Amino acid sequence: MRTVTCAAPVNIAVIKYWGKRDERLILPVNDSISFTLSLDEMYSKTTVSISPTFTEDKFWLNGKEESLENPRIQNCLKEIRRRASKRKLEGSDEDVLNWHVHICSANNFPTAAGLASSAAGYACLVYALGQVYGVEGDLSSIARQGSGSACRSVHGGLVRWYKGEMEDGTDSFARPIAPANHFPNLRVIICVANDGRKKTGSTEGMRRTVQTSRLMQYRIRESVGLRIDSMMQAIKEKNWSAFCDLTIADSNEMHAVCQDSFPPCIYMSDTSHAVASLVHQYNEIQISKGNLNNKVCYTFDAGPNACLFVPGAVANEMLSLLLRTFPPSSPPNADNFIRGMKPQTLSLSK
Ligand code: DP6
Repeated sequence: MRTVTCAAPVNIAVIKYWGKRDERLILPVNDSISFTLSLDEMYSKTTVSISPTFTEDKFWLNGKEESLENPRIQNCLKEIRRRASKRKLEGSDEDVLNWHVHICSANNFPTAAGLASSAAGYACLVYALGQVYGVEGDLSSIARQGSGSACRSVHGGLVRWYKGEMEDGTDSFARPIAPANHFPNLRVIICVANDGRKKTGSTEGMRRTVQTSRLMQYRIRESVGLRIDSMMQAIKEKNWSAFCDLTIADSNEMHAVCQDSFPPCIYMSDTSHAVASLVHQYNEIQISKGNLNNKVCYTFDAGPNACLFVPGAVANEMLSLLLRTFPPSSPPNADNFIRGMKPQTLSLSK
């Protein structure tokens, strides 16, 4: 029997992946850039075991047995086993490929609430499978076949997912572009406006956007590529102010194309918009004082929860501002205070 346990953190996109050009291989219409958070708080943990005594493949998610028929898990499993069989196998390893697998996976944060649970989950699954089967080399393109955004959680720090040009997806992978401390002392505040399951999942939402939104055509052809270039430049120059503006602009463009879809995909709530307004008001004050390095930025995935990137110097100020404006339904634990890239999760009142 072989057993491996791995943990993978969530990543938060600052230039969003929204839209596929190939649904089966999960190939995106544009490059995206994200920050992988530290392993301190929001992560998935997966244990993979293979054994000659197992009589079937099995899968548990958050303590509940689930079907392994899920084609995305199957794609990851197939690809790992294919790569393992391509390696020059030592005698006993031949059998290993025929052993059944048991997968036990859990997130320590709400699943499918627009908090990037699938990203951490598939990155972790693929990494653990890779370890069990001894697969080396790039795993991001396998994680991508579980969930697009998962390919970015395979790496730490700032990561770029290259959309690639090839039809078979071999050049669609993620690569690290800067370490986690590139913008030193950065904090992340996750404001949980609602931790229920999202109404329209990302996969369905992006399909609808690609099929129906004319604004999406503008994003693909004229907008997001330039923003990727500007973001790369901002990262290279460590220009925090530009990083903030680009992050906010891309989140807003993603939600604009969602709203332009038919029927519209609405992810942000009144609370989300109120958080965004608060950030803009705060930034105006910082700009008027000439403190561009104290700007804060927000980004929203396919849900109402805000993710704020906050410079360490103003993190406590931002946190108390949020707490005063949106008294939390359950007070954050004092031991759980923001440190480094460790996120602080707040439950916001409506
Ligand atoms: C809004 O990776 O969950 O978080 O590839 O269909 O599984 P699938 O979608 P998923 O999409 C995440 C989209 C996003 C933006 C992002 O992470 O870039």
